Amino acid sequence: MPLIAAACVMFAVFAYSNRSDRLVRVEASTLTSGSYVNEPDPVKAKAAFNDAAKVFLSPRCANCHPGGEAPTQGDTMTPHTMEVKRGPDGRGVGELKCATCHQDINLDGDSMPPGAPDWHMPGADQKMPFQGVTAGQLCRDLKDPLKNGGRKTAKDAVQHVSTDPKVLWAWNPGNGRTTPPLSQAEFLKKMNEWVENGAACPE
Ligand code: HEC
Ligand code: HEC
Repeated sequence: MPLIAAACVMFAVFAYSNRSDRLVRVEASTLTSGSYVNEPDPVKAKAAFNDAAKVFLSPRCANCHPGGEAPTQGDTMTPHTMEVKRGPDGRGVGELKCATCHQDINLDGDSMPPGAPDWHMPGADQKMPFQGVTAGQLCRDLKDPLKNGGRKTAKDAVQHVSTDPKVLWAWNPGNGRTTPPLSQAEFLKKMNEWVENGAACPE
C-alpha cells in the first residue's frame, strides 16, 4: 500500500480540490484526504454526463423543465391541461397558481395532481429547459451561473439534485407514473463521476 500511495503522488500530478466553493486545480503535493486522487479524465466525464442526461431529459424531470411557457405532463410530455402557464416566478398565473392544485404530497387517484414541497417550475428569467436541448447544451447550461440560478460550480448542481424535494419526487411520482431510466443512486454516481473527472461536456 505505501508503494502504491507513493506512486499515486508521483503520477497523479493534478486533482480537484473540493474544499472551497470553486473547483480549483491543486498540485498533488498539497493533496489532503478530502481531495480527489484520480486525474480528471474528460472522456470519462462526457460518458458519465451522457448517462446522467437520460434522467434530466426523461418526462418526470423534463415536464417541469419545458422549453415553452407551459409545464408538460405525462410520458408524452404534452402541454399541461387547463392552460396552466409558468408566470414570472414559475408559480403560475392568476387563479391557476401551481399551489392551488399541487400539494406537498402526491394525491391518490386517477388524474389527481402529484405533489412535493413548494411545487413550481423555473421562472421566466431562467427557464432551465430540459426539453429541446442536447446533452451537451444541458451540460453547458448547468455550469453557467446565468442559466442555472447563480450556482457557481458543477458540484453545486450535484448538491441540488441530491437534496431538492422536487428532484427526489421523480423517483416517487405517485399514481403509477413511470420513474427515470436510472435509479437515484446510479444517477448520483454518474453526476459525481462527471464532476470528479473535471465536468467536461459532450459536444
Ligand atoms: C415540480 C417541478 C420540478 C421537477 C419535477 C423537477 N424540477 Fe428541477 N427545478 C425546478 C425548479 C423550480 C428549479 C429552479 C430552482 C428552484 O426553485 O428550486 C429547478 C432547478 C433545477 C436544477 C438547477 C440548475 C442547476 O444548474 O443547478 C437542476 C440541476 C434540476 N432542477 C434538475 C432536476 C432533475 C434532474 C429532475 C428530475 C430528477 C428535476 N429537476 C425535476 C422544478 C422541478
Ligand atoms: C387547476 C389545477 C392545477 C394547476 C393550477 C396546476 N396543475 Fe399541474 N397538474 C394538475 C393535475 C390534476 C395533474 C395530473 C394530471 C394527470 O396525471 O392526469 C398535473 C400534472 C402536472 C405535471 C405532470 C407530472 C408528470 O410528470 O406527469 C407537472 C409537471 C405539473 N402539473 C406542473 C405544474 C406547474 C409547474 C404548475 C404551475 C405553474 C401547475 N402544474 C399548475 C393540476 C394543476
